[in-house]
Amino acid sequence: MRGVTTFLKPGEAKYLTIFVCGVNKQFQGKRNPRSPQENFAASIFAILEDFAAKKASCEGLKLWVRTSNSRAIRFYEKFGFFQDTSGPVQEAKEGSPHLTMWKPLGS
Ligand SMILES: CC(C)(COP(=O)(O)OP(=O)(O)OC[C@H]1O[C@@H](n2cnc3c(N)ncnc32)[C@H](O)[C@@H]1OP(=O)(O)O)[C@@H](O)C(=O)NCCC(=O)NCCS
Repeated sequence: MRGVTTFLKPGEAKYLTIFVCGVNKQFQGKRNPRSPQENFAASIFAILEDFAAKKASCEGLKLWVRTSNSRAIRFYEKFGFFQDTSGPVQEAKEGSPHLTMWKPLGS
C-alpha cells in the first residue's frame, strides 16, 4: 500500500488524517493470507487504527474521498467509517466533490 498519514497540529490533533491511500490493483479485493478473514485493505487500515490508538489524545481516523469513488466509499463504510453529516464539499474546480469520512476509535 502507498499512502500518507499525519496527525494534524501535533499535540492538539484528535484524528489521524489519511491523505492518500491505495492498495496495488493486484491486491484489491483479495484476502490477506496472514489474516484470512479480511482483505489486504482491511488489514492495512487495522494497522493504522492500532497506530492511532497508541496516541494518547487520538480519537479516530479521518479521510477525504471523492463521491465518484464508490468502491473506496464502500470499503470505508464496511470498515466502520461514517460520512460527515455536512455532506460533500467541492474544493477543486474539476472532479467530483470530496466527502469527509470519520471512524471513531473502537467503533
Ligand atoms: C480504496 C481501496 C484501498 C479499498 O481496497 P479494496 O481491496 O478495493 O477493498 P475491498 O475489496 O475490501 O472492498 C471494496 C468494496 O467495494 C465493492 N465494490 C467494488 N467495486 C465497486 C463499485 N464500482 N461500486 C461500489 N462498490 C464496489 C466491493 O465489492 C467491496 O465490497 P464488498 O466486500 O461488500 O463486496 C482500493 O480499492 C484502492 O486502493 N483503490 C484505488 C485508490 C483509491 O481510490 N484510494 C482511495 C482514495 S480516498
